[in-house]
Amino acid sequence: MLTRRSVIAVSSLAALVALGVAGAGCSKKVAESEIVIGSFLSLTGSDSTFGLDTKKGIDLALEQANAAGGIKGKKIKVIYEDDKSTAAEATQKVQQLIDRDKAIAILGEVASSRTKAGGLVANAKKIPLVTPSSTAVEITKGRDYVFRSCFTDAQQGDVAARFVREKLGKTKVGLFYAAQDTYSSGLAQTFRESFEKRGGKIVVSKGFQKGDTNYTTYLQELKAGNPEIIFAPVYYNEMVPIARQAKQIGLAGSTFVGGDGWDSAELLEGAAAELEGAYFTNHYAPDVPWEHSKAFMAAFNAKHKAAPNSLSAQGYDAARMLFDAISRASDLTPESIRVALTQTKDFKGATGILTIDAERNANKPIVVVKITGNAFKYSTEYSSQ
Ligand code: PHE
Repeated sequence: MLTRRSVIAVSSLAALVALGVAGAGCSKKVAESEIVIGSFLSLTGSDSTFGLDTKKGIDLALEQANAAGGIKGKKIKVIYEDDKSTAAEATQKVQQLIDRDKAIAILGEVASSRTKAGGLVANAKKIPLVTPSSTAVEITKGRDYVFRSCFTDAQQGDVAARFVREKLGKTKVGLFYAAQDTYSSGLAQTFRESFEKRGGKIVVSKGFQKGDTNYTTYLQELKAGNPEIIFAPVYYNEMVPIARQAKQIGLAGSTFVGGDGWDSAELLEGAAAELEGAYFTNHYAPDVPWEHSKAFMAAFNAKHKAAPNSLSAQGYDAARMLFDAISRASDLTPESIRVALTQTKDFKGATGILTIDAERNANKPIVVVKITGNAFKYSTEYSSQ
């Protein structure tokens, strides 16, 4: 029997068309005996740690679910596609997963810009999609088939502002963000709204261009504004050079506060010393004091021989939340799965106990993590409601 890979490997168009018939026959057979879920992730490219770490969590959830007999008597299969960290590929991969592979639900992405692209396709094709970690507000807005098992940036920005204003007792903040990035600029904006509402002041604000590598001029301008804290909701691969260049002009690590985009082992590898004393809001920390996360940590350690990070924990939760909805659904149609997802309540995830609200977002705890001694340490947590 032809495998999917051998179908793709054939280069001539005529052969592809002919094989397409055989391919369709195969996927029909698969669909009867297995539950096919598609997952699009950044497995290569600029944000590859996001995708690779998330996949580890999904794989663990999958292994556990199948070991327990699968769902409705069927084994679950997850087909992964690499979007190479680009939105254009994300669109294409979601199309493929639905049209070619007949996925009845989709898991992905991490970066909001790519979930926005993939979510548009899934929603138009009426296939439920669960993103483990895309926090930008607009991802789920007006899209009945798009869900998330994480909090939103409206919630995260508000918590970061509260933390800076109330816990750190600061009133003057500088903003530093990626100007055209859905996640970064959105989170900077929700932080601003909440911080100003709480009597704080944004004394300086700078948006850099995605792809910039020299941040020194921006950082000097930020420093000149005399902020007590710089809120930098950027991705880890941007934060490493930012932190290094900031140190060179005399900005201490503890000046910085960030968002969940900082979460990667590569942040510590690249800039742990430069960011000593910095805080960021996140979904999880390796030392969260939550009883319901312990079993996950142990199982993850046994399978991957390493402690899970936030992305792995979220991948695990998104997959399990979807499996839970599929098992509660009245049948295996995407429509029934969508309805079951809307009814998710008090779901015990590794990243907290979550309930899906009317906007298809998750209400759950938001953790504040401190970078200290070359590690991410749980500092405090807030409720997202
Ligand atoms: N929340 C980020 C986004 O929406 C993605 C992210 C989540 C990155 C968790 C790192 C850790 O784009």
